[in-house]
Amino acid sequence: MELIVAVYENWGIGRAGTQPIVIPEDRKHFRSVTGSATVIVSDRTMLDFPGSRPLKGRRNIILSIDPSFTCEGAEVARSIPEAVGMLKPGERAFVIGGASVYRQMLPLCERAYLTKLYCAPECDVFFPDLDSMPNWRVVEQGSVQTSGDIAYRFLTYKNDDVKTLS
Ligand SMILES: NC(=O)c1ccc[n+]([C@@H]2O[C@H](COP(=O)([O-])OP(=O)(O)OC[C@H]3O[C@@H](n4cnc5c(N)ncnc54)[C@H](OP(=O)(O)O)[C@@H]3O)[C@@H](O)[C@H]2O)c1
Repeated sequence: MELIVAVYENWGIGRAGTQPIVIPEDRKHFRSVTGSATVIVSDRTMLDFPGSRPLKGRRNIILSIDPSFTCEGAEVARSIPEAVGMLKPGERAFVIGGASVYRQMLPLCERAYLTKLYCAPECDVFFPDLDSMPNWRVVEQGSVQTSGDIAYRFLTYKNDDVKTLS
């Protein structure tokens, strides 16, 4: 499993249920990295998608503990083991948030694709600081680019201690 996330320079990733600053280059990067792979996302974060709908053209697994939650065009998992168990052997899947799902699933991920935005809007949810975690290391680092007045770069981190669910 892999994950993809956009982080601000203080590792903030969202505020009030949405991302306070987004850049089009990050959206394009998301599409290019994830392609048509499966995505695993929470019910709350899915509500922040365009039209509050699952992503088109791919398998969406939505995590929700709400027993009445259903979603057309998506499969629902009530727990992380259930979501992981729904994947076929070799199926490429990306964890795409939000914060609580990233936190829980981080140890299961082999790679993390980060867009680092060099700005620090106020956030109420944060991504773990991978630079302070000994098992995570940068394996690819793009150059700093700009989108309007926002500097950003793409980074790939690798997890040297991937856990599995027993
Ligand atoms: N920057 C980025 O790339 C990025 C990407 C995605 C999201 N975000 C941001 O992240 C924020 C949302 O994060 P959040 O932490 O507030 O919420 P979240 O992780 O998106 O979703 C929480 C929801 O998922 C359910 N859930 C969590 N763990 C579960 C599990 N193990 N099994 C079943 N259901 C589970 C929760 O249920 P309970 O509450 O009942 O536990 C709750 O309904 C937003 O601001 C969003 O914009 C940023």
